[in-house]
Amino acid sequence: TYDRINVAIDGPAGAGKSTVARLVARKLSYIYVDTGAMYRAITWYMIREGIPAEDDQQVDLKVRDMVIELIPEQDVQKVLINGEDVTPHIRSLQVSGLVSQYSKIEGVRSRLSHLQRQMALRKGVVMDGRDIGTTVLPDAEVKIFMTASVEERALRRYKELKDAETVTLQQLEHDIAMRDRLDEGREISPLRRAEDAILLDTTHMDIHQAVEAIVSRCRSYVDGERNPL
Ligand code: CDP
Ligand code: CDP
Repeated sequence: TYDRINVAIDGPAGAGKSTVARLVARKLSYIYVDTGAMYRAITWYMIREGIPAEDDQQVDLKVRDMVIELIPEQDVQKVLINGEDVTPHIRSLQVSGLVSQYSKIEGVRSRLSHLQRQMALRKGVVMDGRDIGTTVLPDAEVKIFMTASVEERALRRYKELKDAETVTLQQLEHDIAMRDRLDEGREISPLRRAEDAILLDTTHMDIHQAVEAIVSRCRSYVDGERNPL
């Protein structure tokens, strides 16, 4: 018999959370849940509907009667809003630039946290985001706080974008630092390391090393390190 556990991975933008979380989930045959994709999906939807983040009452109303679905697929995870697949739109620089403004709104956070908790009820979930270890799944058996220097994180994002969008490395670094500040500084469930989260600095680590560090932590938890003699 194999104990299924929940794994919470939090940290700032570009630390490697989603890449690593997806691979950890694959290794453990767990489900990967990308909570950032849900905040991005709502952001894209509000932009299209012309509802600015300053109008939080209107955002609250819209979010309340919206149907949000996260469909875990082999590699990409689909997000549907009212049945519409919004996944192709959510990684744009425009969404990245505004997502922190929408994600600080209470109605948005409570709606999504609730959905995320439901997805983890049966255990066997690797969930990444900003507040998973602190707020969404405070009882997660393994918690990781993944970081890397802001220069390294910007560089990773830069390589990813290449010429898909015209942006300089300096601009990306600035945008990422700004988003981190907003995520760390918001009132409701800000980005921070849970007291019982393991700090994993990946500045000088490749993807494989980060995956191994987390998988081995999960295995030793399941093997009973929880109750060491
Ligand atoms: O992939 P990247 O690190 O750029 O960001 P993401 O994980 O897709 O998250 C995008 C944004 O959603 C974050 O900057 C936060 O503002 C928000 N977010 C959040 O508030 N809480 C979460 N659990 C996940 C994301
Ligand atoms: O989800 P998060 O924003 O934390 O980061 P990500 O989207 O998983 O990773 C950002 C980029 O960094 C991806 O292109 C990864 O392949 C890359 N990466 C890396 O080069 N080295 C690592 N140790 C982790 C991620």
